[in-house]
Amino acid sequence: MREETYSPGLAGVIAGETNIACVAQGNLLYRGYTIQDLADKVCFEEVTHLLLFEELPNAAQLSSIKKTLASYRPLPGALIAALRTIPTSVPMMDVLRSMVSYAGHFDPVDGNDEAANRQRALWLTAQIGAIIAARYRLLNDKEPLAPKEGLGHAAQILYQCHGEAPDALSEELIDLTLVLYAEHDFNASTFTGRVICSTLSDMVSGVTGAIGALKGPLHGGANEAAMEMLQRFSTAEEASIWITQALKNKEKVMGFGHRVYKNGDHRAVILEEKLRKLAEQKGEYTWMAIYDAIKKPMTEEKKIYPNVDYPCGLTYFLMDLPLDLYTPLFVASRVTGWTAHIIEQRRNNRIYRPLSIYTGPKERPVPALDER
Ligand SMILES: CC(C)(COP(=O)(O)OP(=O)(O)OC[C@H]1O[C@@H](n2cnc3c(N)ncnc32)[C@H](O)[C@@H]1OP(=O)(O)O)[C@@H](O)C(=O)NCCC(=O)NCCS
Repeated sequence: MREETYSPGLAGVIAGETNIACVAQGNLLYRGYTIQDLADKVCFEEVTHLLLFEELPNAAQLSSIKKTLASYRPLPGALIAALRTIPTSVPMMDVLRSMVSYAGHFDPVDGNDEAANRQRALWLTAQIGAIIAARYRLLNDKEPLAPKEGLGHAAQILYQCHGEAPDALSEELIDLTLVLYAEHDFNASTFTGRVICSTLSDMVSGVTGAIGALKGPLHGGANEAAMEMLQRFSTAEEASIWITQALKNKEKVMGFGHRVYKNGDHRAVILEEKLRKLAEQKGEYTWMAIYDAIKKPMTEEKKIYPNVDYPCGLTYFLMDLPLDLYTPLFVASRVTGWTAHIIEQRRNNRIYRPLSIYTGPKERPVPALDER
């Protein structure tokens, strides 16, 4: 009989094989390419092709994937009508979770084989960007916009939000965050999607569940939570006083720490470099001083390093994006990783069914109603 082991949070447990991404010597690789190399050289659509079709696209394939995304971007009228019925107080991540599930009723792709699921993955990627932008417009008393021809995925999301094509720096920064967020092996939301689809359930169900998992502040919700934390301070001194106390009280500091990176998250280093340039360009020295005031004792005293969500929160903030969009933008990217994993899971499937240690009452008889 196989030995049973217990690992809270499945820490250290190998739960499957993947050829999509790995963290090797603290560096993240998507299908063998380092995240730094990808961040320097490719756009989000190229990463999407890499994750879903297993190789970087050539020029014709890149043009084709862009055309496919464009064809899948328009939202069904019924979905926009449904968006209008959701109270404005409902958080964007909840709206996105519901609307992705609802969009599934209009899935234009037939079948469930790999070719169909790759198309479905592209359709979901295109629709998610458009849903985020449509909801953003409605919240701002503006009508959702049709996509504009010729824009890349990152620029398209910003265009459909704001009604004008973004400047080059904004496009570059959003595209970079989409590249950095796209994939991260067996993280909580990807694992959720794999577990759902290991029952041979469908891709839309897997992605809907994954969105629910990503929402939490210990996972994708951390970019928003990290910025909420920084917003509490007007000066670096205030931030220093707070962090000293927070560390004494053993509080969780959002945007720091990681289950697999114990010596720092390479994505955070890549994004922080861009963030510093952005802050410099905008003259936002106070925000950077607050950012550093939290980071210094976390890294120097606690040896807990920023993860990608820490610089991401402030990057989006300095781009004047509302907090409610931060985690949805993570979804707009990670959907590619989720769907690549769902396809991989189906290829060599075994249903996920771990064990538990029972800690409830011993066996006992059911008392009659008048004896309870
Ligand atoms: C990401 C995270 C959930 C990983 O959790 P984990 O692998 O279970 O890490 P652990 O809880 O085992 O952390 C080990 C120690 O570091 C501490 N620690 C980890 N992250 C911390 C943080 N962000 N702030 C303060 N202390 C932290 C833990 O409290 C623990 O201390 P202890 O040994 O004294 O109890 C955790 O680091 C966290 O909650 N971070 C903040 C949320 C966040 O930024 N999430 C985005 C991840 S990309």
